[in-house]
Amino acid sequence: MCGIVGFAANENTAAEVFKGLLKLEYRGYDSAGIAVINEGRIKCEKVAGRVSELKDAAEGLFGKVSIGHTRWATHGAATRSNAHPHISYDGRFALVHNGIIENSVELKAELTGLGIEFKSETDSEVIVQLIAKNYFGDPIKALDAAVKRLSGSFAIALICTDFPLSVFAAKKGSPLIAGRGRNRNMLASDVSALSPFAKSICRLSDGELLEIRKDTLNFFRDGKPVEKEFEEIKMKEYKADKGEFEHFMIKEIFDQPEVAKSIIEKRIRNGEAVFSELEPDILTDIKQVSIVACGSAYNAGMAGKYILKELLRLPVTVSLASEYRYAAPLPLEGTITVFISQSGETADTLAAAERVRALRGRSISIVNVRDSALTKLTDYTLYTEAGPEVAVATTKGYTAQVMTLCLLGVWAKQSEKSVLFEAVEAIKSIPEIMLRLLGTKDKAEELAKKVKEEDSVYFIGRNIDYAVALEASLKLKEISYIHSEAFAAGELKHGSIALIEEGTKVFALNCYGPLTDKTVSAIREVKARGACVTAAFCENDGNTAAVCDEGIPLPIVHPIVGAVCEIIPFQLLAYFTAKHRGADIDKPRNLAKSVTVE
Ligand code: AGP
Repeated sequence: MCGIVGFAANENTAAEVFKGLLKLEYRGYDSAGIAVINEGRIKCEKVAGRVSELKDAAEGLFGKVSIGHTRWATHGAATRSNAHPHISYDGRFALVHNGIIENSVELKAELTGLGIEFKSETDSEVIVQLIAKNYFGDPIKALDAAVKRLSGSFAIALICTDFPLSVFAAKKGSPLIAGRGRNRNMLASDVSALSPFAKSICRLSDGELLEIRKDTLNFFRDGKPVEKEFEEIKMKEYKADKGEFEHFMIKEIFDQPEVAKSIIEKRIRNGEAVFSELEPDILTDIKQVSIVACGSAYNAGMAGKYILKELLRLPVTVSLASEYRYAAPLPLEGTITVFISQSGETADTLAAAERVRALRGRSISIVNVRDSALTKLTDYTLYTEAGPEVAVATTKGYTAQVMTLCLLGVWAKQSEKSVLFEAVEAIKSIPEIMLRLLGTKDKAEELAKKVKEEDSVYFIGRNIDYAVALEASLKLKEISYIHSEAFAAGELKHGSIALIEEGTKVFALNCYGPLTDKTVSAIREVKARGACVTAAFCENDGNTAAVCDEGIPLPIVHPIVGAVCEIIPFQLLAYFTAKHRGADIDKPRNLAKSVTVE
């Protein structure tokens, strides 16, 4: 997934495009580039590196129209030649693209057969060559003809030397937003890149084309003009600031108690859970809950699943959106589908939500980024109020998701007073418990100094502990690059225990009270085969303390507190392990904050 930006104004726009790209780096940061039209010619600067490395070159560009791109490689390595913008063979067009063109191989063969030479390995370059081949004086017609040949997904911005005051765009499957500013108009992959400049915004729909000039925005579909509604921009420009922290990730880990407090302030009133976004009876007649998400959001769903099942006494399933979107359709009557996404822009989750909407299923989205694409695809949206999350590896976004799921379960059942008091008190204790868990920081760093040399690290747990183990393992591997896996502790003996040998590093998560003895047995099993076991357990659990090689005693008693908070020591473990390995913590290799391609 990548980020694209385009500007049209009556003065230089390259600096604004550069600023917009900085806001979009969470979408990919392998390479970046900017193109302008200057004195009738395309001028382009590209780097095989971060957007910041483009700064000096961008300052040398001048153009009233500019387009820019920050890349997460899908076709071709992160090199300067594969960086966008791509220039057409005749030098007339420059293009940036976010998405995947699935028929690029055959189109490239067709164009190569016509003598067109390609300069990159990318699928995106096929588009600009196809446009140039279809150009007979009208860029919108050429763009329309070209995109009609494409299969896959795209958000495209294009400039043409014959029209030096316009930026053209097309959208299908990848997000694209137009912005209306003061004496300037613009477009970008998401609102954050527009927020400093736009007064109002409009999301393009699939199949729409756009021409922006400094004072006009014209939308088209199948060659005909279409009218579009603009909405006032709500997002205030977020100035990402690490404060006294070394990285955004550690700042966001330490933000969690405040986030939890803000959720409580918003979602608990007079001892009851409050969801003013929902109709009171939305969950009364449901027969099952289907949670759909990716990555850490999926892990949050797994943690929430155990709590929701307990509270609702209903079947709760959790599906990976990338699997769900292609699975055989299940009847949805009696089902509420809950989509979880920090960014609200994850392609697989969006596709799954579109599928449920097409099947007229009832849906809720639990999202952090306001007005993101997912919020437009579900019947209800519950914002997690975690605030902007900059680090690619989610921490506060994840705990806010789990907390919101738990509160949703309480809200659905709070007529049964027995559930209410105990659960609400547990939720109200979360900020204080989080503060205490942040106190394991030094212990986590001490453990990290040992873990950082390991080739593989395993996490085991049962029930809620297993769900948290999934997230602990993902955190460690995605920022330290150490191989890691999480196993259901009871599942080890069915195969995975073959991996255990002398010195194997295992973390046992054992806070879920009803099953601690069972996990103690699993600890014994791996220790019997040479494993070195560090266990996280409730402070009063002497059994686990006695059996592990190293202990992390935690103030966790209630299952809701475990589901939301047990991850914190492992977020810290991952952070310090990556730090001591010198990894790029906030922007890990190969990753992006929002995966907007499938
Ligand atoms: C989280 O640490 C990962 N970077 C990733 O798994 C992420 O959770 C996943 O891509 C889903 O993103 P979303 O919550 O924005 O949909």
